[in-house]
Amino acid sequence: MCGIIGVVGSTEALATLLDGLERLEYRGYDSAGVALVRPGSTWRARSAAGTTSVAALREQCLAAPEGYFSGIGHTRWATHGAPEAVNAHPHLDCSGKVAIIHNGIIENHAVLREQLLTRGHVFTSATDSEVVAHLIEEQRRGGADLLESVRRTLGDIRGAFALAVVDASEPDVIVAARRISPLVVGTAPGVTYLASDVPAMWGRAENFYVVDDDEIVRLVPAGCSAIDLDGTPVRLRALQVDWDLETAQLDGFDDFMSKEIAEQPHAVRNTLLDRRREDGSITFDEIRISDDELRRVRRVVLVACGTSLHAAHIAKYAIERWARLSVEVEIASEYHYRDPLVEVGTLVIGISQSGETIDTIQATREAKRRGATVLAVCNVVDASLARDADAVLYTRAGLEVSVASTKAYVAQIAALEILALRLAQLRGTLTPFDIDEHLGALLAVPDLIATALRTAPAVRAVATELLGARDYFFIGRHLGFPTALEGALKLKEITYLHAEGYAAGELKHGPLALIEPGVVVVAVVTDELLHDKMMSNLAEVKARGASVVAVAREDDRRIDAVADFVLRVPSAHPMLAPMVDIIPLQLLAYELARGLGRNVDRPRNLAKTVTVE
Ligand code: G6P
Repeated sequence: MCGIIGVVGSTEALATLLDGLERLEYRGYDSAGVALVRPGSTWRARSAAGTTSVAALREQCLAAPEGYFSGIGHTRWATHGAPEAVNAHPHLDCSGKVAIIHNGIIENHAVLREQLLTRGHVFTSATDSEVVAHLIEEQRRGGADLLESVRRTLGDIRGAFALAVVDASEPDVIVAARRISPLVVGTAPGVTYLASDVPAMWGRAENFYVVDDDEIVRLVPAGCSAIDLDGTPVRLRALQVDWDLETAQLDGFDDFMSKEIAEQPHAVRNTLLDRRREDGSITFDEIRISDDELRRVRRVVLVACGTSLHAAHIAKYAIERWARLSVEVEIASEYHYRDPLVEVGTLVIGISQSGETIDTIQATREAKRRGATVLAVCNVVDASLARDADAVLYTRAGLEVSVASTKAYVAQIAALEILALRLAQLRGTLTPFDIDEHLGALLAVPDLIATALRTAPAVRAVATELLGARDYFFIGRHLGFPTALEGALKLKEITYLHAEGYAAGELKHGPLALIEPGVVVVAVVTDELLHDKMMSNLAEVKARGASVVAVAREDDRRIDAVADFVLRVPSAHPMLAPMVDIIPLQLLAYELARGLGRNVDRPRNLAKTVTVE
């Protein structure tokens, strides 16, 4: 998965590409490159400098010649071919005039490469993408213009792509196409842009349009036209954008992760805004599934990846408890290859911050194909997942930049819990009094999160003590279990330390063998009903020499007997506690990562939006 950007007709083409690439780095940063075109010549620069690839590219571009008004740029997350400069995009054809950038995977690249080699093409990279440059070259040699060349080439390639192509023989044109991977067009007077997302074009483009699957666009300085795979003209859909550049900036924070952690009360508050009508009923303007249809739901399947999967685990408890519906949580990348059962009345909920995670998109598409009603819970307006689904419920966390998800996670939990209450309301499984009480508790969560954020100095002190530790187990019971999973994921993502999340009761069935002095056990002990059980589990790990960090309620004194360090959070309704209890765990991962000198926003080997399977 990668980020792409392009511009035609700009006096500041190179600056546009480099600024855009900086904002696209969340999609991958193994290497980066640009290609500029003017009549008869293509100029290219590429750099592979890990997390600083775009900065290194900027340096190289100081040597760029003047007089280029159009070009394309790419930031890469390596799939085929090592993260080296030779594999960085743009890739050129044999003539050196056609340059292409690609986000996605060309699944039949090996066969195509073989065929192209036998026809005399010379390859310079180990990527799947380079075949596209040579296929277009063949079409160009046959006399087709750039648009037609790309259209014909799409007939040859299989897989997922957002592609953009320039050719020095048509220097005022970019042709781009999309299948699965995201692509957006931006316009301003006399300049036209494309990118993987809107923020890459902020500050320059004024109007935005979505390119849908199997649409091909031709960008010229005056604007953009589009055709489908048959060559029939199509109209691009205008995109309404309600985020601005300012939200993507740091506002005085050291990094996006700390900013996004601090924004969590706001993210939850926004997500819950206007969901309750005066008569007490819960409403979702954007959901687009009728109440009758929701009443007919018999089974719920939640599909997601990474942090969103942990939000799904939490939603399962809430939907089962409140709406009395049977719920399954599925790892999206497993779901669609498993011949899943979709019976009448199955509601499949795809949960994704970006709405572009390919595994989640594939899983929901498969579910839809089998007859399920699909609801997307997604943070990015008009993302692919939202467009594919029958209905959408937006989390309103705002733009999340840091690779490790924080504010989008709590917003997902809030959205899914209010959905659980809506299902309960429609099914009559909770009394209006209970619903009102739970809603009231939900609306109080932002303040509880704000209080939990005040643990930051205590967490910093604990992190300083733990800096030498290398092995972490996160444990919890009931809703403390998914919180433990998420705490462990945060820690491994940004510190690169070994961390595992476990149901506390499962520890004795294997992992206990690994507990010894030096191992840290982080326990979520906020559930009153399960407190005794957790205390026993902690005594077991303590007896084997582990250091214990406990996330406990403010008034819990018993915990001091077993924990080396206690991080105190305010008491929340047990079903809502995951949004509060996760705060010190996010902060712990953050402080340890900072202490270890890691780049918290851009952890190695990871990317924010994963558009490859
Ligand atoms: C990547 C990110 C994670 C994220 C996961 C799912 O792995 O690094 O932070 O949780 O994708 O992303 P989604 O956008 O579908 O929620």
